[in-house]
Amino acid sequence: MSNECLNVGLIGVGRIGKLHAEHLAYRLPGVRLKTIADVNVDAAQACATRLGVPVVSSDYRAILDDRDIQAVVICSPTNTHAQIVVETAGAGKHIFCEKPIDLSLDRVDQALAAVAQAGVLLQLGFNRRFDANFARVRQAIASGEVGTLRFVHIVSRDPAPPPIEYVKVSGGIFMDMTIHDFDMARFLVGDEVEEVYVSGGVMVDPAIGEAGDIDTALTVLRFRNGVIGTIDNCRQAVYGYDQRVEAFGSRGSIQTDNNYANSAIIAGDRSVGRDLPLNFFMERYTESFLAEMRAFVDAVLTGKPVAVTGEDARKAMLIGLAARRSYETKRPEQVFNCGL
Ligand SMILES: NC(=O)c1ccc[n+]([C@@H]2O[C@H](COP(=O)([O-])OP(=O)(O)OC[C@H]3O[C@@H](n4cnc5c(N)ncnc54)[C@H](O)[C@@H]3O)[C@@H](O)[C@H]2O)c1
Repeated sequence: MSNECLNVGLIGVGRIGKLHAEHLAYRLPGVRLKTIADVNVDAAQACATRLGVPVVSSDYRAILDDRDIQAVVICSPTNTHAQIVVETAGAGKHIFCEKPIDLSLDRVDQALAAVAQAGVLLQLGFNRRFDANFARVRQAIASGEVGTLRFVHIVSRDPAPPPIEYVKVSGGIFMDMTIHDFDMARFLVGDEVEEVYVSGGVMVDPAIGEAGDIDTALTVLRFRNGVIGTIDNCRQAVYGYDQRVEAFGSRGSIQTDNNYANSAIIAGDRSVGRDLPLNFFMERYTESFLAEMRAFVDAVLTGKPVAVTGEDARKAMLIGLAARRSYETKRPEQVFNCGL
C-alpha cells in the first residue's frame, strides 16, 4: 500500500477517541480521517467539525460498509470492542483497538480468531511501550547495558480514583489499571510471566471495596527466565500521576523519573522543590499515543508486523486473571493455569 493515502474510520469519540482523532486528522501524514461514528452523533459531529472530517454517523457499520476505508480505530467502551473487532475483521479492514479487547477470555479468543481468519492486522492500544523513557529502559535491557537482568520495578499510581460507577464496570484494578503494567513488564523483560503473587487492599476509598474491587496492590511477578518483577499500584497519589520504572542487572541499573510540565527548581530557606508531575495519562502519555498510531499506520502501509498484537493483549489478560486469583487465595498463582 506504499505511496497511497490511508482512509481511516474512528469509532467512539470520548476521552481517548478525541485524542486519536486529532492525531489522525493533523499529525500523521498519509492518513485521511474520513469518518467518525459515535452513538452520540452530536459528539461525533462536534469532533468532525473541529477536525474537518467529512463523514459522521451514529452507526459504526457506516464505516464497515465504506469500501474506501482500509483501517478502523476502535475507541468505544470496552464492552463493545469484541463485537466490533469481529465485524471489522469480517469487513476485511485493519484494526487498531483500544485496550482491553474484552473482559471475558472467551470473547477475546473469538475476536482473535476472527482477525486471524480474515488475515487483517490488529494492534492493541498498549501505548506505554511507545513512551520514550520506557523504550530506553527496554533498549538497555535488550542490548545488555545493565548486564543480566535481575529485577524490574514498576511504579504506577493514579492521581485519584475514577468515579465509583466506572469502578463497577471496569473489570477491577488488575484488568483496568495494572493491565498496562503487565504489558510493560513483558515488554521490558522480553519474556513471559510464569507466576504471580499479590498483596493488596482497600486503602483509598471504602466504596471501591464495596464495589468488589481493591485500590492498592503490590504484585510480584516471576518470569520464565528467572527475572523478578514488582508492580506497585495505587488509585491515589496526592502528588499526581506517578509512572516510573527501574531495571537492575549484573552490570548496573537504569531508572526513569516522572515527566514534568517544566524543569524549574524553586529553592527557599527550608527546602528545594519543583512543580508536580504531569497530572494524568492524557498529558503524560500524549506523545506515546501519537507514536503508537504512527506505528499502526506504518504497519498498514508497509505490511510490517504490528508492534502490539492481540496475543500480547491476551497474555496481559492472563496475568491479570492470575493476579486476581492470587489476591483471593493469598497464594502465588501460575499464569497459564488461568488460561485454561
Ligand atoms: N490506552 C489507554 O491508556 C486508554 C485510556 C483511556 C481509555 N482507554 C480505553 O478506551 C476505551 C474508551 O474509553 P474512554 O475513556 O474514551 O470512554 P468514553 O466513555 O469517554 O468514550 C466512549 C465513546 O464511545 C461512544 N460509544 C458508546 N457505544 C458506542 C457504539 N456502540 N458505537 C460507537 N460509539 C459508541 C460513547 O458515546 C462515547 O463518546 C475503553 O475501552 C478504555 O479502556 C484506553
